[in-house]
Amino acid sequence: MCGIVGYIGEKQAQSFLVNSLRRLEYRGYDSCGIAVADGSIEVYKDAIRVETLERVAPQLGGKVGIGHTRWATCGGPSQVNAHPHCDCTGNIAVVHNGVINNLQGLKQQLISEGHNFVSETDTEVIPHLIEKYYNGNLEKAVEAALRVVEGSYAIVVLMAGEPKLVAARKDSPLIIGIGDRENFIASDVPAILDYTNRVIYLEEGDIGVVTKDSIKIRRDGTEVDREEHKVLWSIEEAQKAGYEHFMLKEIHEQPKVIRDTLGEYTSSAEPVVDLMRLRDEGIESMLILACGTSYHAALVGKYIVEELLRIPMMVEIASEFSYYGQTLARTLAIVITQSGETADSLKAMKRLKEVGCRVVAIANVVGSSASRIADQTIYTKAGPEISVAATKSFTAQLMVLYWLAIGYSKADARRLASMLLELRQLPSKVQQVLDNEDIILQCARYLSKYENVFFIGRGINFPVALEGALKLKEVSYIHAEGYAAGELKHGPFALLGENTPVIAIVARDNTYEAMLSNIKEIKARKSPLIALAEEGDEVIGSLADSVITVPQVDAIFSPVVNAVALQLLAYYTAKERGCPIDFPRNLAKSVTVE
Ligand code: G6P
Repeated sequence: MCGIVGYIGEKQAQSFLVNSLRRLEYRGYDSCGIAVADGSIEVYKDAIRVETLERVAPQLGGKVGIGHTRWATCGGPSQVNAHPHCDCTGNIAVVHNGVINNLQGLKQQLISEGHNFVSETDTEVIPHLIEKYYNGNLEKAVEAALRVVEGSYAIVVLMAGEPKLVAARKDSPLIIGIGDRENFIASDVPAILDYTNRVIYLEEGDIGVVTKDSIKIRRDGTEVDREEHKVLWSIEEAQKAGYEHFMLKEIHEQPKVIRDTLGEYTSSAEPVVDLMRLRDEGIESMLILACGTSYHAALVGKYIVEELLRIPMMVEIASEFSYYGQTLARTLAIVITQSGETADSLKAMKRLKEVGCRVVAIANVVGSSASRIADQTIYTKAGPEISVAATKSFTAQLMVLYWLAIGYSKADARRLASMLLELRQLPSKVQQVLDNEDIILQCARYLSKYENVFFIGRGINFPVALEGALKLKEVSYIHAEGYAAGELKHGPFALLGENTPVIAIVARDNTYEAMLSNIKEIKARKSPLIALAEEGDEVIGSLADSVITVPQVDAIFSPVVNAVALQLLAYYTAKERGCPIDFPRNLAKSVTVE
């Protein structure tokens, strides 16, 4: 998704802008550009990677500038559609994340007033509106322009001759980084971590006026105070630390992520969410909403909650939620979102609040939009997740769900004690999966030659099959489908055969026997079969072509070890196929459009 950066200070802006854009590459983009003011405004932009921009852009001298990575939505990726966009005079440059809904009306009006447009983007109306309303005061012109804009935006405006940057947000994140005789603006924390960890999160409707020595924030024309926060993520966490890809590094961080996330909540005397109190206050049902990998964590959460709490849990895809007609007033809604910025999840949260639900967010990014909408936010301690394919955030989300459910579990004291013990051992169990890479690597080499793969699971590992398939397709571009094992015979059997491998997740729980039958059915149809099975399973070796073993765990925790093994399988398959693992084509880390 698009990324924004801005710099004002005593150094050359260009090197800051390029470096920060590189830190935002993980969000996904297809073009990029910078504008620097040095008397007049110089713009350099194209449908190129940031490293190419760095190599080919001329040295621009100014000490104030803006930059952008664009993920095409309104108009294809091209030089002319790349940001920054300028007004007719070329004196005003704007970078923008978001969507302008009343584009047509605004554009026609501006054209009738003599403004010339060169791109297909919605963004281009913004510099023209600012030009129209400019009367000697840039922030007032920005305010006036935004008053007529409908939609979502995070923008930064640069004007020739004005030693300031003006930033504004609505439904799209923007932060200001505080430096020493220099200040920064970015859509995302990793962009500025090389320079500062002191940030101000702009709130909805805020307009920030940033000079090298001052930051003033206005809302509805009046100055407001915004708290300064210290970002706890380190720059090392946002770097590869010797790993070839962020995805591999993040997979390997999972033992620590489990420890950190559990440590955060087990050390507190207060319950994370006081479910009993909420029940006394009239909460009757629970709902989890999410997208992508977070949705798969939510699906695992359904099994965890229903098994341990014995209460029904609804799980919905956030983008589908608008179309459902449930009565929700007495519902505790949990929204899971790593970034806290996914447009579909935020829209669902707003609707939930409107109908009077209590909304709890499980998010990884402190200060994200989800945390502002939610009544309460539970933070996962995954640290910055840079790879587009989510890995450690999934595990951290599961940890929060386990902890929420175990806190109120209806399980007997013995089972509870054994689950708590297993939870403590999970980091080392995950480490064992990570140490067992050789067999995963062999299976990945084998898989990399195929174009279609099925993943099957049952019970609590059905969502893990969905997640395994999602990981494989997004990083290796192999068509992969996750299925409930029992559903294969209702259609997919037609596709099985020598050229369609199946990955079966074989858990030692009440699904075991049924899964063995499924595997026999699959083998009878000649599909190559890779099983993911527990250590000590003597039967599976005679049925499957290859077996990836995972350590024994209580079945309720099996999604963690199985998901980690499937993440590695996807990673190594993609590597074998030479894919750009951290930045898969057409995908974005944080999807801020519906
Ligand atoms: C994008 C990312 C996925 C992620 C999904 C939901 O599609 O590429 O990895 O699972 O968004 O993101 P969220 O930040 O809401 O968890």
